[in-house]
Amino acid sequence: MTRLAVLLLLAPGLALAAPPDGRQIALHGNSDGALPCAACHGANGAGNTSIGAPALAGLPAGVIEDSLAQFAQGKGGNALMQSIARALNPDETKAVAEYFSNLPKP
Ligand code: HEC
Repeated sequence: MTRLAVLLLLAPGLALAAPPDGRQIALHGNSDGALPCAACHGANGAGNTSIGAPALAGLPAGVIEDSLAQFAQGKGGNALMQSIARALNPDETKAVAEYFSNLPKP
């Protein structure tokens, strides 16, 4: 078998094992129906006061994760935010929390 064929065989497995990309989720959502966070919270995470979406940029990742965990349990937030939180698995929640936490505070 050529080296290329081996690489092609291994590539899908590697993609599955890769941790979720927080930026990808923030800008494009996920395949389980989580809407792109950026649509409401802004691509820079500065939030959008006109729709009541708070800034996320620069918040500690743990705070963002905790809020999402609460929302997923139906505690706090609005119905849409709750369904978005439920559509994220724990690894995705962590990845997107870290992404916003690393953006500069607005
Ligand atoms: C359709 C608009 C919309 C989308 C899309 C959206 N949010 Fe929100 N989000 C809101 C609104 C509005 C609130 C305020 C809810 C409240 O407090 O009642 C909120 C609140 C939050 C909070 C709580 C922040 C705080 O300081 O209280 C977090 C964390 C959060 N969203 C994360 C996310 C993440 C991560 C995503 C993407 C996976 C996302 N949101 C997608 C509208 C949205």
